[in-house]
Amino acid sequence: MKKKKIPFGMPLIDEFEHKAVRNVMSSPQLVHGPKAKKFEEKFGNFIGGKFCVSLNSCTAGLHLSYMYFGIGEGDEVIVPAQSHVATAHAVEYTGAKPIFVDVEKKTGNIDITQIQDRITNRTKAIGLVHFAGLPVDMRPIIKIAKKNNLFVVEDAALALGAKYNNMHVGLLGDVGSFSFYPVKHITTAEGGMLVTKNEKLFKAAMRLKAFGYDKMVGERRTQGLYDVDILGYNFRMNEIQASIGIEQLKKLKGFLRKRKKNSQILRKNLNEFEEIRCLEDGNEIKEHANYCLIIVLNSKLAKQRFEVMKKLKEFGIGTSIYYPGPIPNFKYYRQKYNLKKNHYPNALEISMNSIALPVGPHLDSEDMLYISNCLKNIIFKEK
Ligand SMILES: Cc1ncc(COP(=O)(O)O)c(C=O)c1O
Repeated sequence: MKKKKIPFGMPLIDEFEHKAVRNVMSSPQLVHGPKAKKFEEKFGNFIGGKFCVSLNSCTAGLHLSYMYFGIGEGDEVIVPAQSHVATAHAVEYTGAKPIFVDVEKKTGNIDITQIQDRITNRTKAIGLVHFAGLPVDMRPIIKIAKKNNLFVVEDAALALGAKYNNMHVGLLGDVGSFSFYPVKHITTAEGGMLVTKNEKLFKAAMRLKAFGYDKMVGERRTQGLYDVDILGYNFRMNEIQASIGIEQLKKLKGFLRKRKKNSQILRKNLNEFEEIRCLEDGNEIKEHANYCLIIVLNSKLAKQRFEVMKKLKEFGIGTSIYYPGPIPNFKYYRQKYNLKKNHYPNALEISMNSIALPVGPHLDSEDMLYISNCLKNIIFKEK
């Protein structure tokens, strides 16, 4: 086998992004300009929703959402134990307490059957995650949220392109947030987008992301004159980032097609290995965004997980781990809330025994074949 170079993720930037950035750089407006507005409009067109707020990260979108709902000290928010730490940090920033719930073994998404038991009279919201691009089963979530009067915040950092019942994720709950970090479905280097169907929330987020100014730059009758009546942050996306995002969006449909094709080939090739299982694929109701393909090694092979990753690297294949531990096991949360390490068995299994394989649009079917052949080679020797 001829050695290939297969990075886990790679932003696909070409002359269009370069030109767009150069144009902004030679304009007088690097922030507060037309590019962020255009990116918001185009993003809204893509997902089928009109209220989008460009931000400097997905985390900022989650944080602003909880702020808008008035969530703070004394409140609780249900979150999955298996996610990026940002999912819980966004709750922490407000002074509220994240309440961790284990995930489903098959999907890595929050175990809906465990949510009701964790709801108390302090619970104000469910902050869910469409893990690795597979939509959460939203129908029962909305039912629980309605019954208990809870807000639903969708962390869609890894799920651009994912749909549930034909509706794009992010628009299914009260508010959603996307990430444009370099290895995501599209990138703006760093960046995020808050989306909502709620115009009031949209207007508030626009102010909260910019210090709480009562008038945006274009709305001021006298330049530099404004009042401030809320404690806003500086979470804005700048014009350079937005100009990259506009170009990336033009390629998104093609990116998603490639991701889907790559994932399907890899899943099919890996099917024959009894030592590993893939996290569940989408179906007619759940359109998967195929951020990566997560394989869970059986307990025997899992003991050699780092060895397997090292060997894949020697074959030129980049991998990753989503995520390095259930959030409640991270020192900050464990110590602050006196949490027990073994309370989240499925999250623990996924974080300790899994490897995330690349399926991004920088790769093709030959690469998928190469990955499965290399894995076969490694697993066979590890046995
Ligand atoms: C599920 C999830 N939420 C939030 C984030 C944070 O996104 P950002 O870096 O845009 O704030 C990440 C980052 O990978 C993530 O995986």
